[in-house]
Amino acid sequence: MADLKGKTALVTGASRGIGRASALALARLGAQVLVHYGQAAKEADAVVAEIRKAGGTAEAIAADLAMPDGPHQLAQRVRAIVGDRLDILVANAGVAKAAVIEETTVADFDNLFAVNVRAPFFLVQQLLPILHEGSSVVLVSSLAAHAVVGTLPAYAATKGAIDTLVKHFAAALGARGIRVNAVAPGVVATDMSSFAKTDQGRDYTLSLQTLKRIAQPDDIGDVVAFLASPDARWVSGDTIHVDGGSKL
Ligand SMILES: NC(=O)c1ccc[n+]([C@@H]2O[C@H](COP(=O)([O-])OP(=O)(O)OC[C@H]3O[C@@H](n4cnc5c(N)ncnc54)[C@H](OP(=O)(O)O)[C@@H]3O)[C@@H](O)[C@H]2O)c1
Repeated sequence: MADLKGKTALVTGASRGIGRASALALARLGAQVLVHYGQAAKEADAVVAEIRKAGGTAEAIAADLAMPDGPHQLAQRVRAIVGDRLDILVANAGVAKAAVIEETTVADFDNLFAVNVRAPFFLVQQLLPILHEGSSVVLVSSLAAHAVVGTLPAYAATKGAIDTLVKHFAAALGARGIRVNAVAPGVVATDMSSFAKTDQGRDYTLSLQTLKRIAQPDDIGDVVAFLASPDARWVSGDTIHVDGGSKL
């Protein structure tokens, strides 16, 4: 696997789950990692401590990405730490809410799009001045964007928007040598997919997948690190399915 020594990385939503695993994977390869969180300061500090204990460099950084100016504030804080050079941006922070069409509220719909779509869009916009030739942006889509799983129409639409943004960002930024891709996880054992920990949820999840185990966050984090690394230098504009062969 490529060496990321000397590279700077921001991972949003890195206090828990897939973001945490991505931050740890990037740090293992030598990157300096900014561990973004929303509310979970203690958990983010623990991720930073784990990276430092292993000899890496990390710092926790807060911003509420549901707020309209959240991405702008986060970008300012990032620039205050890394200066004018960001090599890796993993826009992972996200929220989900299961609801049938009839029970989806306007407030829930707006919050899903604010955190899952608006925040990555404006974070890329605000960090553009410090992305450069060789930088890699990784967004997080979902199996839910590509297949009807669970009861998540509004959430699934946010991830469909991510797949679209990947192509537009990659097309716009390619001439500057910036790659943009997404990972699309299936069901992963995190707080977000806690139903996978029930017997019924586990059976449902395994019935979707050709590989018969429940995915762990580092199954995704390692692919994020690959996409962020020079090993993926010829991959751009793509969404990589990281779902144990779901819904084949
Ligand atoms: N788990 C799955 O099965 C699955 C499948 C496909 C795609 N995904 C996607 O993968 C990504 C990570 O999911 P996960 O399962 O790791 O979720 P998770 O364990 O619930 O963690 C979500 C992360 O996002 C952050 N976050 C949420 N709302 C925020 C806000 N308003 N402002 C700032 N940060 C916020 C949280 O920060 P704090 O806790 O610090 O507030 C946390 O670090 C999401 O984009 C999700 O849609 C997950």
